[in-house]
Amino acid sequence: MIADELGRADDVERVLIDEKVIEKRLDAMAEEIDREFPSGPILAIVLLKGAFVFAADLLRRIPRPLDIECLNVSSYHGGTESSGVVKFLDHSLPDVKGRHVLVLDDILDTGRTLKAVTDRLLLEGCAAVHTGVLLAKDRPRAEDVQADYVGFEIGDEFVVGYGLDYRGRYRNLPFVGVLKS
Ligand code: PRP
Repeated sequence: MIADELGRADDVERVLIDEKVIEKRLDAMAEEIDREFPSGPILAIVLLKGAFVFAADLLRRIPRPLDIECLNVSSYHGGTESSGVVKFLDHSLPDVKGRHVLVLDDILDTGRTLKAVTDRLLLEGCAAVHTGVLLAKDRPRAEDVQADYVGFEIGDEFVVGYGLDYRGRYRNLPFVGVLKS
């Protein structure tokens, strides 16, 4: 599907990663996770809102029992710059005690979100935190963190689509794209 069909042609400057390329990469990521993850059910923790599209498509490709939980965290508040503070918006956290968890996020940018979530889950007593992101920006991180599974390395530019938003919009684009400035 192209930007025109979604009525977004005026906003999207270019498609960075198209739907077919994402699908192919997710096949490989799912296979890698299934091969490397400790045996037994995986506890996947999906970071909302951005990771919901990526997680839905990735987790359906993993052929083993899965427990799926979501965590609602936010630091960009719809804009293009991190506020620097990662807010946990849920009243309680899932029970992760003794579990190997797979945290899924749409993008690794400053690293604050993955670091805050990882630290919090370890405090809650999980056995280990494994992390997977669709996108990792090639830029210095504010936190010393990296993802175990990365879909695509991208340049340091603001992207939308496939779950990622600008002011709450564009999450439903089926590709990752760059907005006009
Ligand atoms: C975005 C994105 C990641 C995080 C990555 O979340 O979904 O969770 O920022 O950036 P970081 O590496 O600099 O922490 P956002 O705060 O925009 O919330 P959202 O997922 O609800 O859009």
